Amino acid sequence: MNKDINKKYDLSNDAVLLIDKGHHKIYWVGTTSSEALRSNIYLIKDKREGIIIDCGSRGEFQETIKRIKQVIPLTYITKVFANHQDPDVTSAMVDWLELNPNIEIITSPNTNVLIKHYMKEEEKYKYFNTETNPSLTLDSGAVLEFIPSPFMHAPGAVTIYNRHTKTLFSGDIWAAISLEWKLLLEDDFDKHKEDMDFFHQGYIASNKAARNFLINFKDREVTNIMPQHGSIITQENVNKAFAYLKNLKCGMDYFREISDEELSFIVND
Ligand SMILES: [Fe+2]
Ligand SMILES: [Fe+2]
Repeated sequence: MNKDINKKYDLSNDAVLLIDKGHHKIYWVGTTSSEALRSNIYLIKDKREGIIIDCGSRGEFQETIKRIKQVIPLTYITKVFANHQDPDVTSAMVDWLELNPNIEIITSPNTNVLIKHYMKEEEKYKYFNTETNPSLTLDSGAVLEFIPSPFMHAPGAVTIYNRHTKTLFSGDIWAAISLEWKLLLEDDFDKHKEDMDFFHQGYIASNKAARNFLINFKDREVTNIMPQHGSIITQENVNKAFAYLKNLKCGMDYFREISDEELSFIVND
């Protein structure tokens, strides 16, 4: 990915072409809210099919479809993927299903149990289970692998590894929160770490969870990381991003051990 992307596009308006492999393209169609927590939404266009990765908030739905219409007809959208159930990630599924009730929702069973609650009781949708179907082959031959990332941060969180483009759609992992923002991360990874720290220390369960996720990439080459908040991490920083997670202290790592003695007020049954 070329850093010119940061200058070439009007982010307040445009759908941004990130990766172009002919029949298989990846676009950014997210939001540019002035708040520090803005959402990245991605669109995979594979031949005549569109897949939305983390469809975002209901309040931002109109902005999202305005961008998508610049590159494909809305009727191409057949699937919406949900990394986890948070409203900033998934609540706009309601609007997508209103637009087209045939859209399939791709997510883990744990997440699916929760996102059902965005819908009215009688409203059903097609569900693609990432646990029973750990990969999806698209028309062009490109393969999406669904890689669970439990407790990073949601128990049922699942990421996508796009084998064709070596892209990792990571959801809230490597999310960064800052007022200033560039779509593609440029030189300053140390500054970016600070923007990631705030989110990771509070939301990611533990270093053990992070390492259990990282082991999935021993034999999978990742050349770009597309998180749900903050900048896209391109090839030159991927190893730094992995090292950041490998050494991350977060969540329960900060809990203190409570001994049996301290809990002696509770009688063992
Ligand atoms: Fe989240
Ligand atoms: Fe999020």
